[in-house]
Amino acid sequence: MASYDVIIIGSGPGGYVCAIRCAQLGLKTACVEGRETLGGTCLNVGCIPSKALLHATHMLHETQDNFEAMGLMGASPKVDWEKMLAYKTDVIGQNTKGIEFLFKKNKVDWLKGWGSIPEPGKVRVGEETHEAKNIVIATGSEVATLKGVEIDEKTVVSSTGALELKSIPKKLAVIGGGVIGLEMGSVYARLGAEVTVLEFLDHITPGMDAEVQKTFQRILKKQGLSFIMGAAVQSVEVMKTKAKVTYKLRKDDSEATLDADTVLVATGRRPYTDGLGLAELGVEMTERGQVKTDAHWATSVKGIYAIGDCISGPMLAHKAEDEGMAVAETLAGQKGHVNYGVIPGVVYTHPEVAAVGKTEEELKNEGRAYKVGKFSFMGNGRAKANFAADGFVKLLADKDTDRILGAHIIGPMAGDLIHEICVAMEFGAAAEDVARTCHAHPTYSEAVREAALACGDGPIHS
Ligand code: NAI
Repeated sequence: MASYDVIIIGSGPGGYVCAIRCAQLGLKTACVEGRETLGGTCLNVGCIPSKALLHATHMLHETQDNFEAMGLMGASPKVDWEKMLAYKTDVIGQNTKGIEFLFKKNKVDWLKGWGSIPEPGKVRVGEETHEAKNIVIATGSEVATLKGVEIDEKTVVSSTGALELKSIPKKLAVIGGGVIGLEMGSVYARLGAEVTVLEFLDHITPGMDAEVQKTFQRILKKQGLSFIMGAAVQSVEVMKTKAKVTYKLRKDDSEATLDADTVLVATGRRPYTDGLGLAELGVEMTERGQVKTDAHWATSVKGIYAIGDCISGPMLAHKAEDEGMAVAETLAGQKGHVNYGVIPGVVYTHPEVAAVGKTEEELKNEGRAYKVGKFSFMGNGRAKANFAADGFVKLLADKDTDRILGAHIIGPMAGDLIHEICVAMEFGAAAEDVARTCHAHPTYSEAVREAALACGDGPIHS
């Protein structure tokens, strides 16, 4: 039995970042992880592997679409699916080993196995029980299953199975037009699959700015994805090697079916806290199965904290990381803080979609006076040169004070461009502050400045 200042259960982006920061702040730290490798869902079966496949298939798409237009003739790479998967696996390995290295460097002990909390101040891992002054639950989330749909990870897959299909499907049905459905749908569409997205609502990516949703769907359609909107999936029947998806159209309650070789279920995730013993400990939970926490990530049981996907808020790796750092600071006697008003969200399709702060719909609902500064990438020289002019930057600012309230970008490198606005918002900047900042030419980020100019006297290039 060892004794620690902090034991963190789970080594995803929330847990491993928390562990490293705790150790850096002088706390004796251990992190419990039952997987063979560190990094949780994100590194092993989520963010990182999906980005490898998105990158590889985007490269393929470039050779097919834009190479000849640039005078690059005769490039027609053939897809070696096994090799592409091996590349993805290698990327995972590099990242998970990287965390292992960082643990060693920072003297974080990796307690291998699945953890539980037999009583406050104690963490059991396998046969051993360790003492901890503080415990941080960072156990993340799992795929939320759909009634009438059984995931076998072969024909009917979750995002995990979608990262290692035996072969590229001819027909892929995607249930759910959210982030996972559209990212993985894009991957297989670029690999030649006929992709149909079935979405319950009348728009994709719920919660996103409506104008971006519309443009995003139009671009995806142009890329070959089909959409059945307002479709509530009822069941999936697996025949020998195929599957039949039955759905009801919400507008008239009519029932229809769709055949596919593979079905991807991407209808959300739910908090994962199985086996921790939280009920026995009396840890309060929300109605949605999340661990209830206060403003300092403390649960209802003294000395037990929780962060990331298993508590409330967006299920995003970087939100979990920020909470992990803030809890570490709190446990080290500092003042940990997360600004939930400035957490960016990114969809890594091509083009990328990124957002931070309020949407126009939210501002309308709040009855706030706001102004919109919008700039199309068509007016951006760099985007035109790079065949990346589809999309726009939309900045929302307070009508009276000019303070930036939100930004929504669909276009090249949107996931990177958004951070200029994140920093601006953290500093309480006005759109004019961004507009008066010199932006290098020619860069995509000039489009952000032009959107800021559009909040004032107007953009130059439109
Ligand atoms: P999601 O919540 O983003 O989207 C699920 C979609 O499924 C919604 O549009 C919903 O209306 C639809 N849906 C639900 N039930 C349905 C039914 N019966 N029939 C048809 N459609 C139905 O969930 P998703 O895409 O599974 O992602 C899970 C979590 O992982 C999210 O919180 C997401 O933020 C996170 N994630 C984030 C990524 C990123 O930041 N790039 C990448 C992947 C996941």
